[in-house]
Amino acid sequence: VSNMLVDSFGRLHTYLRISLTERCNLRCQYCMPAEGVELTPGPLVLSQNEVIRVASLFVSSGVTKIRLTGGEPSIRKDIEEICSQLSNLKGLKTLAMTTNGVALARKLPKLKNCGLNLLNISLDTLVPAKFEFMTRRKGHERVMESIYTAVDLGYNPVKVNCVVMRGFNDDEICDFVELTKDKPINVRFIEFMPFDGNVWNVKKLVSYAEMLDIVGKRFTGLQRIKDHPTETAKNFTIDGHQGTVSFITSMTNHFCSGCNRLRLLADGNLKVCLFGPSEVSLRDPIRDGADDNELRQIIGAAVKRKKASHAGMFDIAKTPNRPMIHIGG
Ligand code: GTP
Ligand code: 5AD
Ligand code: SF4
Repeated sequence: VSNMLVDSFGRLHTYLRISLTERCNLRCQYCMPAEGVELTPGPLVLSQNEVIRVASLFVSSGVTKIRLTGGEPSIRKDIEEICSQLSNLKGLKTLAMTTNGVALARKLPKLKNCGLNLLNISLDTLVPAKFEFMTRRKGHERVMESIYTAVDLGYNPVKVNCVVMRGFNDDEICDFVELTKDKPINVRFIEFMPFDGNVWNVKKLVSYAEMLDIVGKRFTGLQRIKDHPTETAKNFTIDGHQGTVSFITSMTNHFCSGCNRLRLLADGNLKVCLFGPSEVSLRDPIRDGADDNELRQIIGAAVKRKKASHAGMFDIAKTPNRPMIHIGG
């Protein structure tokens, strides 16, 4: 294992997030503008073989966890094949997906057989009409079905990602916590983050402190569990609940010092920080015939450019980045 994945602050990158497509079957307001975003032309999106080539290079360099994102990863036609090939990479321990769950339930048994062993499903409201408002599409029932299918298939926990936005769903926090009562569900409340075109403002941000207060007032025995230093989430148990509750506090309490994440975007760019503008193409050298050593050098140099932390919420909101739909979270 080379040191290409160690940055200049000594952080080892063992977690690669791969965006498989910029397309999505929803149009969430916090992720993209109403008019949509420009899509990378199909031929410039990484092919299945290119994804596997890059992934195997990362895995041979120390990556043990790959998460598939998008857009919506489950709508990629070759998703099963990609999962099978990735899960066969020697050294990979976790193959995860972050999905909106709209078109997932029917595909899930097969995906599980292909080696998908960790599932995060995004759901921001339990009210169908609010779902339609936020996502500009229908599908609430199908997401719920996917969550329960995942539980039935034995995913434990099934993680449910809920981006909390003031005036939209901050009144549903306790209802979401109820989902954890009798099921092995981990509800994760996420602080709203700024990305290009998502009309973020600080008034819509509901802070970790505020969310913790809301949950703590209503449920007894809220107790922090020790988490791994590389985790994005602060995790809690609640008396009498089978599932757990977590908070992802990117804005008010960032977790950059333990960051172990790199991102491969659908267009083949490597992005070393969610909020950093620094990107480098891996697709272009691959298509120009670069060998693994040349790719390792390009990746190593990019990782060394990674900053210690993001610039703070007001600065990130001002700095151009990509829209979330291109980054995959
Ligand atoms: P696990 O692997 O299950 O712990 O999930 P995860 O939190 O790594 O990934 P997921 O796709 O479920 O993301 C949940 C939230 O965390 C999303 O809002 C992501 O944008 C955010 N997130 C994921 N990785 C990072 C990161 O490196 N930095 C920051 N600031 N936020 C992140
Ligand atoms: N702020 C916080 N989380 C977001 N996500 C998408 N957009 C934002 C945002 N602006 C979440 C999605 C998904 C994960 C990849 O990131 O809901 O669960
Ligand atoms: Fe890592 Fe950047 Fe996220 Fe901080 S903001 S945790 S450095 S990806």
